[in-house]
Amino acid sequence: MFFQHNFYAGPGALPNSVLAKIEKELRSYQNSGMSIMEFSHRSPQVVDVINDTVARFKKYLKLDDAWELILLQGGGSMQFLMAPYNLSKPGERIDYIDTGYWTQRAIHEAKDCERDLQIIADGAADKYHVLPDLEGIDTNTGARYLHICSNNTVVGTQWHEFPKVDTPLVVDASSDLLAREFDLSKVNMLYAHAQKNVGLAGITVVAVRKSALLQPESLPDMLCYQPHIDKLSNYHTPPVFSIYVTNLMQKWLEEEIGGVEAIAEINLQKAKHLYDVIDSSKSFECPVKISDRSTMNVVFTTGDDARDQAFIDYCAERHIIGVAGHRTHKGLRASLYNAVTPEDVTALVACIEGFDAT
Ligand SMILES: Cc1ncc(COP(=O)(O)O)c(C=O)c1O
Repeated sequence: MFFQHNFYAGPGALPNSVLAKIEKELRSYQNSGMSIMEFSHRSPQVVDVINDTVARFKKYLKLDDAWELILLQGGGSMQFLMAPYNLSKPGERIDYIDTGYWTQRAIHEAKDCERDLQIIADGAADKYHVLPDLEGIDTNTGARYLHICSNNTVVGTQWHEFPKVDTPLVVDASSDLLAREFDLSKVNMLYAHAQKNVGLAGITVVAVRKSALLQPESLPDMLCYQPHIDKLSNYHTPPVFSIYVTNLMQKWLEEEIGGVEAIAEINLQKAKHLYDVIDSSKSFECPVKISDRSTMNVVFTTGDDARDQAFIDYCAERHIIGVAGHRTHKGLRASLYNAVTPEDVTALVACIEGFDAT
């Protein structure tokens, strides 16, 4: 089958111009006669790519000298574990807002860290289709930090503004890093894997305030941030190709799109286009509260599993892929990451309208 429009939730679409650049340079990086994949991770060519990628992330996130930014392996999931180890001490309290699947995974991975993990609010009563209201909840608990997920990939909610609490935040931004601007004034750490909006699976971006870093208890060096900081994200062999593609994505975002502010506006328009057509259709509905709806992952359904599957098949016949909901959630989901174009959304909208008319 031939697919033209990719709405997968991750890994997600890559821009055509980035793919073209990879193709062009694959066998001879910058006319060197060698592929970037063949260079040593200590070569000036690779060190330059790593340093440039780190510098650009710092620039896009507007990080000053109070911050460190490193590229690690292990995906978003490894940070569920590394954050507690590096930002808190054994026995200390860590708070979570449970907004569904990925925050639950974060809590699960941290359960053996010997910390006091507490869920201060959750969206279970609303099947996670509404972000918890913190009104009346005591958020001043003395926790070392409060963990949130800025965009909930599975259920389709997004914190358009981070919760206003006194406890410093640790934010899993795996599905909206560089897709919108963040206010990091109350944030101690923000992490995100690359494979949705910013590049390829293999690297995870970790931005952490220097003042929040603790000397971890006896831990293997690989699990401590400090060696990775000291060695400038080159403590051990990094996934060079992933970093290289991420660097191309950054250049695409800056030079072809106009930066994070510009893509944020495009992403808003894409999401509005799709939500509007879902809301006005007779076959589909979006279960997510309007003010909490994600600009990244549009979750919707016909309300009937067989009919949802019929829509997935209808899309495939029209060269559209990736619209099935998460396996735990079912239904339908279209992910509108940075590389998904307004034209892709228009193609999906035409499918929704066509299916609606059948
Ligand atoms: C918000 C969020 N956090 C964490 C993860 C887990 O990331 P990884 O598969 O890189 O470990 C995902 C995966 O899609 C996610 O959407």
